[in-house]
Formats: sequence, structure tokens, C-alpha cells
Amino acid sequence: MQSFPAVDPIPLPAPIWLLKLLHIVTLSLHFVAVEMLLGGLLLAVLLSLFRGSPQSLVTARALARRLTVVMTFVINLAVPPLLFAQVLYGRALYTSSVLIGLYWISIVAILILTYWLLYRFSARLEAGESAWWVGLSAWLLAGCIARLLSTNMTLMLRPEVWRDMYSASAAGAYLPTGDPTLTPRWLLMLAGGLFIGGLWLIYLSGRSTFTAEEKRFVASLGGKVAAVFGLVYLTAGLWAAGVQPAVVKAGLATHPLYKFAGFAGYGWLALVVVAVLVGILAGFGKISIGLSGFLAWTGVLLAVLVEITFTVYRDGVRDLTLLSKGYDVWDRAVVTNWGVVGLFLVLFVAGLGVIGWLVSVVARARKVMEGAISI
Ligand code: HEM
Repeated sequence: MQSFPAVDPIPLPAPIWLLKLLHIVTLSLHFVAVEMLLGGLLLAVLLSLFRGSPQSLVTARALARRLTVVMTFVINLAVPPLLFAQVLYGRALYTSSVLIGLYWISIVAILILTYWLLYRFSARLEAGESAWWVGLSAWLLAGCIARLLSTNMTLMLRPEVWRDMYSASAAGAYLPTGDPTLTPRWLLMLAGGLFIGGLWLIYLSGRSTFTAEEKRFVASLGGKVAAVFGLVYLTAGLWAAGVQPAVVKAGLATHPLYKFAGFAGYGWLALVVVAVLVGILAGFGKISIGLSGFLAWTGVLLAVLVEITFTVYRDGVRDLTLLSKGYDVWDRAVVTNWGVVGLFLVLFVAGLGVIGWLVSVVARARKVMEGAISI
């Protein structure tokens, strides 16, 4: 019996390799922003709860101020991969989205609430009020969104459970059960948050808006967090890879195309190890100003490369899982309109340029000292 809906009347308007490339680039950027949000928020909450030193509050405030901006990037960098995923995997992704429809649509409401709580968290910290519970609520909600996304991205790979789920509820009122890959995958993203959050702090420690003492505190904390949670992230990654079906593991090792995704997995592993070493250096070493600037930018580069290799590997896992169930993403009718594709690419590159410029504006803004309280 055919598991995937057969209706796919419109041919793809661009080569599949190009759509996949754009998907991986944009999704990697979404993941960088997501991890900054999940990790940066939890760190800010803990720092504002356990105010061990004046620098704790300064760091919490510095993170919270930036999180509302990070959220903008989370959302705007989420839409392109959603569109590319729908184009490439629509018959699987639409089906799983409908099956958990109530939860899927609830993401919009949860997201709005999370965003509002982020603003409240930052405002309360700025006003010197107790804020940790507001930030913690925002983090828990963001974690729920992550869980729902992991749920959908794994349910789309399990056509064998779709029929029973639809029989149980056509209103999308049930979540799937019994998938051994779901929880490791979700925890991997949560652990990645603290790891990337640590690297983010190492980068922030280079900001001229901190005093010398604050810089030392931020770098040392960021380094320790990146080192410890880099190891947790590694463990979660090995767990998530280990629970994949045998056919997927075999494909990642031997399939002529997807063994490159397997290589990306090893690349991810090596990069996380390097990042852990950078964390150890920043967290425990005595570092000169010159070296700290170098470490800050190395951390940024590593964070981006880690997410790219992760996304390539994850893409291989998805394609091989679907392939084993009869869905070959490469087997689609393509009618390329090169004029439109060319125009799209020009606008896409211009868009990336604008994002880069916006990030640089954010990085250069706020020349007030981080410790200053503005009400
Ligand atoms: C607080 C906000 C958000 C968080 C914490 C978050 C988190 C995540 C996580 C954890 C995943 C990986 C799931 C997995 O594969 O296991 C993911 C993937 C994804 N997210 Fe987000 N996300 C957020 C907002 C959004 C929004 C607003 C959208 C849509 C406009 C979105 C679109 C996507 C898509 C399409 C994927 C998967 C794409 C693919 O696999 O091809 N996300 N997100």
C-alpha cells in the first residue's frame, strides 16, 4: 500500500539540489538563533536567580536585552526552511502537521506568549525587579515549541503510524507515542542551547561595553558553560545518532550520496571537541586581550560550522529514513524557470547581506555600559 499521499500535481520550480542547498543554509541559521535563544535565556534566568556577584546581574541583563532581538532572528530565519521543507517533503510534512494539527497551530499562540514574556523578563531586570520566574516561564514555553517541532519532524518520518493516529482523532488532538528518536533529538537541541550559549558569552566578553572585571567574569563563565555542555551536547548527539534505524546508519556509512552526511556527522563531532577546548581555554586559562578577541571570533565561527554540519547530517537522516519507506526526495518532476530562479538567488543573496548588516548594527548598538540600569 502506498504510504505517502500521491497527489503532487505541480513540478518543482528549481533543481532539487538547489532547493536542498537553500534549505540547509537557512535551517542552519535558524538553528544558530534557536540555540542562542534556548541557551542564552536559561543562562540569564540562572544568573538572575543565583546572584553570586554583581557581575551575574550585569551578565543576565546583557543577555536579556539581546534575547528579544535574537527571537526576531529565530522567527525570520524559520520561515525560509519551513517553505523549502514543504516544497521538498510536502507529502510527508503536511500529513504529519495535520495529524497533530491542534498542537501544531498552537505554536503560534505559544510563540506570541514567549515573545511577550521575553520583553517582560528584560524590562523587569532593567527595573531591578525579580525576573527569574518570568524568564523561566519563557524558557519552558520555548522548550515546548522545540518539543512540538521535534515531534512533527519525527512524525513526518513515520508513515506507518499515520493511519491509526488519524482514526483516533481527525482533529489532530493526539501526539504520537513510541518513537525512540524523539526525546534524544529534542534533548540534543536543548543541550546545544547551553553549549552555544556558552560560546555566545565568550563572544560577548569581547564587547567594549563591559568593564575589565565584567569581561573576565563573562569569558570565564562562558568558557566553563561551553566546555561542560559541549560534552553533554556530544553525548546527546551520540545518543540521537545511536537510536537511528540500522538502515539509516548503514546509508550514512555507504550510500554514495549520503555518506557525505555521515562525514558531516564526524565533522560535527570534531568541531564540538575543538569548541570544548576553546571553552576550557576561555574558562580556566589566563588569557591576554589579544587572545580573548581571537577566542571570541573562533567561538562564533565554530558555532556556525557546528550547526551547518549538524544540519547536513540531520538532512541525511531524514532522507535515508524516508527512502527506506518509499519516499525518494530526488524522484520529483522538475521544470526549472531559470529566469525566476536567477532573480530569486539575487534577492536571496541580497537578503543575506541585509541580515548580516542588521546583525552588525545590533552588535555596534547600545554604547551604554552594560551594568547601567535604564528604567
Ligand atoms: C521559540 C521559537 C522556536 C524554537 C525554540 C524552535 C526550535 C526548533 C527546533 C528544536 C527544531 C528542530 C526539531 C527537530 O528536528 O528535532 C526546529 C526546526 C524547525 N523549525 Fe523552529 N523553533 C522556533 C520557532 C520556529 C518558527 C516560528 C517556525 C516557523 C515559522 C519554525 C520552523 C521550523 C522548521 C520548519 C523546522 C524544521 C525544518 C526542517 O527540518 O526542514 N521554528 N525548530
